[in-house]
Amino acid sequence: MTNKTWLITGTSSGFGKALATLLAKKGTVNLVATARNIEKLHYLDEFNHGQIQKLTLDVTNQHEIQAVVEKTNTIFGTIDVLVNNAGLGYFGTFEESNRKTVKYMFAVNVWGLVDMTRSVLPTMRKQKSGIIINFSSIGGLFSFPTLSFYHGSKYAVEGISESLAKEVADCNIKVMLIEPSGFRTDWAGRSSKKILPKIADYQQFKDFIENNKNGAHHEAGDPNKAAEIIYDQATNHINDLPLRLPLGRFATDTAIKKYSDTLAQFKKHHDISVSADQPE
Ligand SMILES: NC(=O)c1ccc[n+]([C@@H]2O[C@H](COP(=O)([O-])OP(=O)(O)OC[C@H]3O[C@@H](n4cnc5c(N)ncnc54)[C@H](OP(=O)(O)O)[C@@H]3O)[C@@H](O)[C@H]2O)c1
Repeated sequence: MTNKTWLITGTSSGFGKALATLLAKKGTVNLVATARNIEKLHYLDEFNHGQIQKLTLDVTNQHEIQAVVEKTNTIFGTIDVLVNNAGLGYFGTFEESNRKTVKYMFAVNVWGLVDMTRSVLPTMRKQKSGIIINFSSIGGLFSFPTLSFYHGSKYAVEGISESLAKEVADCNIKVMLIEPSGFRTDWAGRSSKKILPKIADYQQFKDFIENNKNGAHHEAGDPNKAAEIIYDQATNHINDLPLRLPLGRFATDTAIKKYSDTLAQFKKHHDISVSADQPE
């Protein structure tokens, strides 16, 4: 069997590092591990079996995206799995959030993922196969106070991915959304800006932000287990790949409750909803 080629964004830490390490250890895939600073990818050197490429990639840089995709095609001839993992967080009330910082988070979480995907799709359409794995979050389905813009970015990823999945299904390209709850990565620490509320009406949310900051690296989720699950789904369950995969007990319980509650609301208001149409 020929090696599959995996291209992953943001492999310097967290989920990206866990997945790159797992794939590198297996030695049965071609791995393109990317990072803004490839100095942070030394951890891969001990596994180097000739099938690992470390490439510089800031997902907000279109030239770097093009260069990485071209290089991957030249070296390995295929791109079988794209993992859009790179992402940032932002804690702050809606009213007090900094527009510029929040826009940058969207540039990474949404536009970085979009630009990567659009650059890889021609290769996957030509191959008539491929898997696009997009890191969303339980925060792409359910919202907490002080995370409105992070949620906005992940809900955007959800909507874009769901629509894309329908457009590329006939090209034999699958899309899978990963929706983790809290995992032990750098996300709640260095990768998330935190703006404590100054407005008196929002003081009640100060503890939530501080608890997330202090709780970083104590979360329930294990990124290495997440990596195993993602690899298994993309390798052994290709024909039954879920569009949405919550990871972690809190993620799946919250998703089930959110969808159950929403379903009950839709049913309760069904007659009112229907009454808005023109008479038949
Ligand atoms: N951990 C959680 O609890 C959790 C829960 C739900 C969803 N997620 C999602 O999981 C994904 C991975 O995050 P993580 O938890 O593994 O956190 P992490 O350890 O902080 O990793 C984030 C990665 O994104 C990279 N990155 C940031 N901006 C980038 C850019 N402009 N271009 C390229 N790479 C960039 C970082 O690289 P640098 O080293 O250069 O900063 C780092 O490798 C994110 O999309 C996040 O939203 C995380």
